[in-house]
Amino acid sequence: MRTTERLVLRPFRDTDLDPWAALNADPDVTQYLGEPLNRENCDEIAADVNALYEREGFGFLAIERRSDGVFLGAAGLSREQWYPDDLEIGWRLAREHWGHGYATEAAASWLEHGFATLGLPRIIAVTDTPNVRSIAVMRRLGMSFDHEAVLLDDGVPFDATIYSLTAEAWKASRR
Ligand SMILES: CC(C)(COP(=O)(O)OP(=O)(O)OC[C@H]1O[C@@H](n2cnc3c(N)ncnc32)[C@H](O)[C@@H]1OP(=O)(O)O)[C@@H](O)C(=O)NCCC(=O)NCCS
Repeated sequence: MRTTERLVLRPFRDTDLDPWAALNADPDVTQYLGEPLNRENCDEIAADVNALYEREGFGFLAIERRSDGVFLGAAGLSREQWYPDDLEIGWRLAREHWGHGYATEAAASWLEHGFATLGLPRIIAVTDTPNVRSIAVMRRLGMSFDHEAVLLDDGVPFDATIYSLTAEAWKASRR
């Protein structure tokens, strides 16, 4: 579990599963994420996230607001099939919680975990090229444009933009 000024980053709980399923069924949220997910998929993802966190000490964990305990979404580190040598940072918030800096705050804490605790040499972020809100989070985090590529998501090609941050650049930005 990690704590930031406004957030708690923690494994999923049973009480998160309803709002987690609701945000994953919202077309505004899934616009660049492929097909909206059904309840069973969402429950499986939450269970897999918790198992990975238990095993490896990182994951795409739940985000809870400290002031009132509300579940906002999820963010964190994962290993995806397209770049298996790198850990990827990502974020997903319920629509009503966009515009408050929560994704950036959660992700900044996960970058610190990745560099300071896990000792990663670099962390990447991957998004659909038109997903400008996601690219804005990458920039706010101090990540730099790395390259563009056509990647496959469940066999379906999409235009991806990849940003990255090295441990050296992260350390320099904190001095
Ligand atoms: C991508 C996503 C997480 C970005 O959410 P977001 O709310 O735009 O990003 P942040 O949480 O960092 O918030 C930044 C915004 O909050 C504002 N803000 C308000 N208070 C703030 C504060 N205290 N600190 C920082 N920013 C603050 C910023 O000015 C910025 O506003 P702007 O969008 O008008 O420029 C969100 O759009 C989402 O969940 N999308 C669907 C899922 C998705 O596509 N995920 C990415 C897949 S690659």
